Amino acid sequence: MIIEPKTRGFICLTAHPTGCEQNVINQIEYVKSKGAIDGAKKVLVIGASTGFGLASRITSAFGCGASTIGVFLEKAPSAGRPASPGWYNSAAFEKHAHEAGLYAKSINGDAFSNEIKQQTIDMIKEDLGQVDLVIYSLASPVRTNPNTGKRHKSVLKPIGDVFSNKTVDFHTGNVSEVSIQPATEDDIANTVEVMGGEDWEMWIDAMREAGVLAEGAETYAYSYIGPKLTEPVYRKGTIGAAKDHLEATAHKITEKLADMGGKAVVSVNKALVTQASSAIPVIPLYISLLYKIMKADGIHEGCIEQIQRLYADRIYSGDMKLDEKGRIRIDDWEMRDDVQAKVDELWAIATTENLSEIGDLKGYSDDFFNLFGFKVDGVDYDADVNEVVEIPSLA
Ligand code: NAI
Ligand code: NA
Repeated sequence: MIIEPKTRGFICLTAHPTGCEQNVINQIEYVKSKGAIDGAKKVLVIGASTGFGLASRITSAFGCGASTIGVFLEKAPSAGRPASPGWYNSAAFEKHAHEAGLYAKSINGDAFSNEIKQQTIDMIKEDLGQVDLVIYSLASPVRTNPNTGKRHKSVLKPIGDVFSNKTVDFHTGNVSEVSIQPATEDDIANTVEVMGGEDWEMWIDAMREAGVLAEGAETYAYSYIGPKLTEPVYRKGTIGAAKDHLEATAHKITEKLADMGGKAVVSVNKALVTQASSAIPVIPLYISLLYKIMKADGIHEGCIEQIQRLYADRIYSGDMKLDEKGRIRIDDWEMRDDVQAKVDELWAIATTENLSEIGDLKGYSDDFFNLFGFKVDGVDYDADVNEVVEIPSLA
């Protein structure tokens, strides 16, 4: 079939297999171009199919030469109905990993459930014995807590006061004012349930108990801080409360793993266009200004540049350069004073009329379509493609 983007608000309902594969190939080539990393050899990535998790899987495999198991929740294709992008990404990843002689298997299901944890543990036992690195990179709007059976929904709201600021509809370029009502106590608790650290800890507990964590195993999860501008809706909002919980959980897990020389660390990453971040009000406008500035300064990075640098210059460099709260800061270039001062300047004057000039709206929009395999250089979108692509290990 010919597959075209079909957008509805912040989501795109279709994905292109050839475009997704090209994205994966580009990421693999980037990691290979940066040279080998002396790192983990057996890696579990939870949330491995898109965004930072996919970049982590690619860096583990093609940077460190690692065997990888990837867990994700993606929609399989059927005749006439394309898969979700993470499905095509994972199919492409496995194909290229296998061609390179690397072990790669995947598990498609709800990572929050006990069943998928058990299935993953069984696969590790059978195929790898143990893993030495666990990347936790889930982003989800909902979680069913397996202990209570309760389904929680996360929200993106400020805490305490109404937050009003500028935002942009990145499809139209229309800059407008949004006001977001503050969260209730339930909203906060639910968001922490979904995006906090409880599930990360449950994974590590279950893996440790099953004996599938190697001596000295490390685990990393991803967080975000961002500028003052987005603080009310991000770091001091409901999602920030969840990130506080995630970061606190790192210390808790590290204590639990101390006797086996393991540790848990949070890496604070840069703001990037992903399916998760496109849905947060105000953030797309911030990102489009940030991109413009960072590209002009030659310091722009996507997920793969971020994660390759995380592995090479932090995790496996001998010095993680932790901040005062024990976090890795790979958001260091985003947070540079000169970069943020320019964002502030542009933010104050941004309007519908000038945004395409002062901001990188095109970069934002292209990145958004790229997530779904569209507008990728070198891909012939007029060509007929088979939408039914299998992930080799799931076939
Ligand atoms: P993403 O939406 O690209 O990836 C989410 C992954 O989680 C996908 O592999 C998806 O299949 C998987 N997933 C979701 N629900 C699942 C479930 N129930 N069971 C199994 N897999 C499931 O998200 P992104 O942006 O890569 O986020 C990953 C982490 O990085 C999050 O913790 C996010 O907060 C953090 N982060 C994101 C930033 C950004 O700007 N996008 C910046 C800094 C941190
Ligand atoms: Na991810």
